[in-house]
Amino acid sequence: MTEIKAIGVVGGGQMGSGIAQLAATYGHQVWLIDSDSAALAKATDSISSSIQRLVSRNLLSREIGANALQRLKFSTDLKELHSADVIIEAILESEDVKRKLFVELDKIAKRSSILASNTSSIPITRLASATTRPEQVIGMHFMNPPPVMKLVEIVRGADTSNETFDAIKILAERLGKTVICSQDYSGFIVNRILMPMINEAFFALYTGVATKEDIDTGMKLGTNHPMGPLELADFIGLDVCLSIMKVLHSGLGDNKYAPCPLLVQYVDAGRLGRKRRIGVYDYRKLPEPDKSKSRL
Ligand SMILES: NC(=O)c1ccc[n+]([C@@H]2O[C@H](COP(=O)([O-])OP(=O)(O)OC[C@H]3O[C@@H](n4cnc5c(N)ncnc54)[C@H](O)[C@@H]3O)[C@@H](O)[C@H]2O)c1
Repeated sequence: MTEIKAIGVVGGGQMGSGIAQLAATYGHQVWLIDSDSAALAKATDSISSSIQRLVSRNLLSREIGANALQRLKFSTDLKELHSADVIIEAILESEDVKRKLFVELDKIAKRSSILASNTSSIPITRLASATTRPEQVIGMHFMNPPPVMKLVEIVRGADTSNETFDAIKILAERLGKTVICSQDYSGFIVNRILMPMINEAFFALYTGVATKEDIDTGMKLGTNHPMGPLELADFIGLDVCLSIMKVLHSGLGDNKYAPCPLLVQYVDAGRLGRKRRIGVYDYRKLPEPDKSKSRL
């Protein structure tokens, strides 16, 4: 089995930058690619302040933090990934856009390279079919924020080989994660269960069952969740939640997954959650967040 040393991450948003940080902290050479140079600049700042914060809290040694920053490279050019052993895709949650990227990655990546997707819900088999190497395509679903959350959900496409699965499982475990394995059905395990709960919280708000504060307090104190579902939706991004509900709805063909009209309306209005400083809650009156505080 090929030893995984060099890792490429495509998409420098909240997930991609966290995955790149994690991999560099665990000793991998990492290229972080984003088509938007402003997103890359933001990712650079957020990774470096996150590492500084970990160091200041004694959760990471100064030396490991400094070495991690040295191992990270940033670019808008996908071709930099030609020698990566594994490429982890973390761009926006759109099947069309992801499939186009997989076509490109298949051309650029060396033959032995594994192409992984951090998709929250899109079937891996459909992404794999855009490539000439479906046996080397797999889902590697990190939780948000990747440096902190302990879980990686591995999703096997219809043709994913045992060798690819084993290599990705070993990689996830070396990055300090616990692995669960899901069959390739829309939403996999975690979002199949989490997103309908978030959607139902929107329905409760939409139909006037309760205020947003009471819905969140109810789920925090009543079921011991660390965050209420509406607060969590703001943290994940309402656009991401809506995309996942659409995938569940079309992929599983059941109207119980229809997105709540209020969730659709908030996304239409650009109320995407914390990243836009307004979602279900309004964060605009709060001081500009220290980016490192949203992610360790
Ligand atoms: N947000 C979460 O909590 C969460 C958790 C687990 C998985 N995910 C999944 O991770 C992926 C990324 O989510 P996110 O929240 O980080 O999104 P995000 O919007 O924060 O970041 C997406 C990034 O991808 C870049 N991008 C878009 N198209 C590109 C392309 N063709 N080539 C290169 N870069 C491109 C954008 O410029 C942006 O910087 C999605 O598939 C999402 O479903 C998200």
